[in-house]
Amino acid sequence: MKLLVVKDYEEMSCATAKIFKDIITEKPDAVLGLATGSTPIGLYNKLIEMNRNKEINFSNVKTINLDEYVGLGEENSQSYRYFMNDKLFNHINIDKANTFVPNGLAENLEKEAKSYDKKIEELGGIDIQILGIGNNGHIAFNEPDDFLISETHVTNLSQSTIEANSRFFKSINDVPTRAITMGIGSIMKAKKILLLVKGEDKVRAVKELLNGDITTKNPATILKLHEDVTIIIDETMEYKGNFY
Ligand code: F6R
Repeated sequence: MKLLVVKDYEEMSCATAKIFKDIITEKPDAVLGLATGSTPIGLYNKLIEMNRNKEINFSNVKTINLDEYVGLGEENSQSYRYFMNDKLFNHINIDKANTFVPNGLAENLEKEAKSYDKKIEELGGIDIQILGIGNNGHIAFNEPDDFLISETHVTNLSQSTIEANSRFFKSINDVPTRAITMGIGSIMKAKKILLLVKGEDKVRAVKELLNGDITTKNPATILKLHEDVTIIIDETMEYKGNFY
């Protein structure tokens, strides 16, 4: 695991965008594993800018997202598909047919989850996966538990995640309680992983990841077993975490 300490969120977004640019330049049909939430928004803004400046061409790129709320469709402004269209896909020269987000409205959610892992395989695997981290250590919606699930699956969101995500909704009662999420194994198969950390409420989870043992109670700690993971934090997080 590598740790990259950057000055601030702006630098985190720039550094990540530069890594994306290098990967796409080398492999124009790269498969990008994407995330939603507040953390990657700066990255997406940089990618839009670089696409406008003709520094990155997305015409052959494929993307696959980590997760989607159960019960929300593309038209719902709280769905992750809507988020991705709104924050990235509508503004770059990507073919939307090459962008994949689990279907939260699927009639058979188990089948949808299974076919999602097949889709990743068909695409040839994920070249680079970005992750945010929950304040409870979740990655995608793999929540702390006594066990972790390897494949893409339907999951119940933990109370702490519902509370954290309620900031995006009118009321906490509007936050969906279930999601389809890539499993830990689906994520760990990615060739390269970048974990971006934004928000001081993540200090405890990141400290456990950097200094502690692997535990299902902090799903991010499993990343210690991946051979190409970079964790990007900013100087404030480094100072607050006193990680060394
Ligand atoms: C989003 C996702 C989540 C978020 C995490 C952090 O697709 O899978 O694991 O990455 O909850 O969210 P933010 O970035 O809003 O702090």
